[in-house]
Amino acid sequence: MSRYVLPLSVLGTAVGGAVLLKDFVAGGACPSKATIPGKTVIVTGANTGIGKQTALELAKRGGNIILACRDMEKCEAAAKEIRGETLNHRINARHLDLASLKSIREFAAQVTEEEEHVHILINNAAVMRCPHWTTEDGFEMQLGVNYLGHFLLTNLLLDKLKASAPSRIINVSSLAHVAGHIDFEDLNWEKKNYDTKAAYCQSKLAVVLSTKELSRRLQGTGVTVNALHPGVARTELGRHTGMHSSAFSSFMLGPIFWLLVKSPQLAAQPSVYLAVAEELEGVSGKYFDVLKEKPPAPEAEDEEVAKRLWAESVRLVGLEMSHGSYGERGQPLPK
Ligand SMILES: NC(=O)c1ccc[n+]([C@@H]2O[C@H](COP(=O)([O-])OP(=O)(O)OC[C@H]3O[C@@H](n4cnc5c(N)ncnc54)[C@H](OP(=O)(O)O)[C@@H]3O)[C@@H](O)[C@H]2O)c1
Repeated sequence: MSRYVLPLSVLGTAVGGAVLLKDFVAGGACPSKATIPGKTVIVTGANTGIGKQTALELAKRGGNIILACRDMEKCEAAAKEIRGETLNHRINARHLDLASLKSIREFAAQVTEEEEHVHILINNAAVMRCPHWTTEDGFEMQLGVNYLGHFLLTNLLLDKLKASAPSRIINVSSLAHVAGHIDFEDLNWEKKNYDTKAAYCQSKLAVVLSTKELSRRLQGTGVTVNALHPGVARTELGRHTGMHSSAFSSFMLGPIFWLLVKSPQLAAQPSVYLAVAEELEGVSGKYFDVLKEKPPAPEAEDEEVAKRLWAESVRLVGLEMSHGSYGERGQPLPK
């Protein structure tokens, strides 16, 4: 019997250690219990993954939730599920394709006209490591959806957010931004060979840079903007990577994934935290690694790069400075 004591205690320690490591990696639940009755929230890419769980959690906390998705069948299904689970009936599905500037403008115009307020905008949707695709307007897909689409959406909703202040913008970036670089000579991968990983990292770096720049521009308005890395989660994000397509890689990587990858529900906690926490009132221009504020990559802190990227983005999506507000080309937004 005694010969089993040592192996059993080693096994127990290993299992206990693995569970502790998993808890550490997961990062825990949103520490704030704040509710948001009557607050209007937009979550992009809310039909699945982290976005859907974010919408669900904010619905539980009493918000009026707009799920903004490109596939209306999936969007309606998610809205129905969230209504059923939370008994909150103020959950609406709306069409938004971030790979189309026209769709973004139509969505923003409808929200501006029909919604009295927008208190929380969560720019969550993304595509990762897809083939060399372009958006309807000819942007490289990952830059177009993850960054430029949200850039236009945010700017078109700014007046509504300002009128609803205190209000918050949450930009879901990724730790992958640290490997990113903004290539101003070829932002859209038209000259160099396409590198799908580098394109994802560039798009997520652009998200952090624009978060910082927008926060400087929003000082004194009551609108805050922060970026976050949600942690690594089991979602559909890897759909273009083929990571789980072979039985061998699933078998080999399965245990590592179990240890290091969290549920979408846990990965939604940072977005929920930045959206509701009372202690974050007035906090702006920060980067959160899961639930903790951390400095982002050095390039993300470079104000010159941020200003240049902002100006280039304004040009690319067709926004112009006009009477202190951004409107469509030649069309100042109503105050
Ligand atoms: N999962 C992770 O480990 C991880 C790690 C770091 C950062 N993140 C970030 O977390 C966020 C959520 O990702 P996730 O893991 O939940 O991924 P996901 O399960 O793949 O969900 C992505 C969402 O984005 C939507 N989307 C894609 N292209 C769109 C477009 N053109 N217009 C509108 N919506 C579009 C998708 O809609 P369809 O279903 O119609 O495609 C889906 O709803 C992303 O910003 C991602 O970069 C995730």
